[in-house]
Amino acid sequence: MRAGSHISLQKLVSLVSLAASSETDESPIDIGNRRIPSRYFLAPLAGYTHLAFRRVIRELGGLGLATTDLVLASQLVAKSRKSQQLVATCESDQPLSVQIFSGITAELVKAAKWLEDRGYQGIDINMGCPMAKINSSGGGARLMCDVDGACTAVSQVVEAVSVPVTVKMRLGWDRDHLTAPALAREFEQCGLKAITIHGRTRQQGFHGSVDLDGIRKTVEAVQSIPIVGNGDVRTPEDAIAMRQQTGCAAVAIGRGAILDPWIFRKLADQARGLEPFEPSRNDQIEFLKRHFTLMCEQHEDYSCILFRKFVGWYGQRLGIPEDLEDRLRRFESIEEFNEIVEQVAERHGERVATVPTALLKVPNGPVERW
Ligand SMILES: Cc1cc2nc3c(=O)[nH]c(=O)nc-3n(C[C@H](O)[C@H](O)[C@H](O)COP(=O)(O)O)c2cc1C
Repeated sequence: MRAGSHISLQKLVSLVSLAASSETDESPIDIGNRRIPSRYFLAPLAGYTHLAFRRVIRELGGLGLATTDLVLASQLVAKSRKSQQLVATCESDQPLSVQIFSGITAELVKAAKWLEDRGYQGIDINMGCPMAKINSSGGGARLMCDVDGACTAVSQVVEAVSVPVTVKMRLGWDRDHLTAPALAREFEQCGLKAITIHGRTRQQGFHGSVDLDGIRKTVEAVQSIPIVGNGDVRTPEDAIAMRQQTGCAAVAIGRGAILDPWIFRKLADQARGLEPFEPSRNDQIEFLKRHFTLMCEQHEDYSCILFRKFVGWYGQRLGIPEDLEDRLRRFESIEEFNEIVEQVAERHGERVATVPTALLKVPNGPVERW
């Protein structure tokens, strides 16, 4: 073992035995004082992982922990309308963590206390967001560039609340600064209870492939806190491969859950030795209706706009014919939604494209360079 590496004997034994058996541990997982029933989590996707999506996915079964979209810490404490919508939850939306971000530690601390006082049971700090407007104020992935500053932020939030605090981060800022293992080791000493690692650098954005080796190095850097692997998991097989190749304790799935909302259910079935569930035509249509209905409960007519962005992801999985998918990307009223869905039910599966529209490559950048 490398000098300075803090991998514990207990952890080494469990990694070696898992690798030898090629079985994954499917028992519940503890994050601080929280027991999470499944090791397959929903990764936050701003604009998608709102209450309605979390509820509808939970209803399908198999989901462990879900996390809200990132919320600006200062906005939360100021009770801005948008931040209150982002942290809206209900009894069935458990277990849940709220993800906060800020470049100012005092704001993270205030937001964490604010959440704890209102009964939220887990706080996640965003250290992975690559967006320039978030990084320029010192938040998101920028925090990974300053080990001391990041540790101060984590320690102060941990000290301020008694609920478990976690972090979601990338492998580092760029490939010359792969700080995740060093940060993870320090964060564990500061009392952090779990870390989710998206296996890309900030510089990669969403390009290139996920570096499983980089996630594994972070797993090896900590003593006992769970590392949650993340990135590019699209099928149950990808999730199992991520666990086997990195030794991570759990997997967070983002885009894969919009592409296949049944992915958690399938993983749960697989863990119980059952044939993975395949949704029927009726299940697919019910899912479409249910997600929209739950969205309307929170956002009323505005759901007609919010729902549109899901359709390019859902169309292929839910057997929506291309012309109806196109209409669902433009519909303007609840009545129109219902009318289109009736047609989807009649014409389900009449679809030529096999690739989800959201994954089709579109020209990028200034038009003269297309
Ligand atoms: C549209 C979109 C929004 C995202 N929003 C967040 C966010 O609010 N917080 C966060 O930590 N990560 C966010 N991410 C990153 C994802 O959580 C995840 O790390 C990344 O998409 C890789 O995982 P996946 O391939 O399973 O989607 C976002 C990603 C996308 C594509």
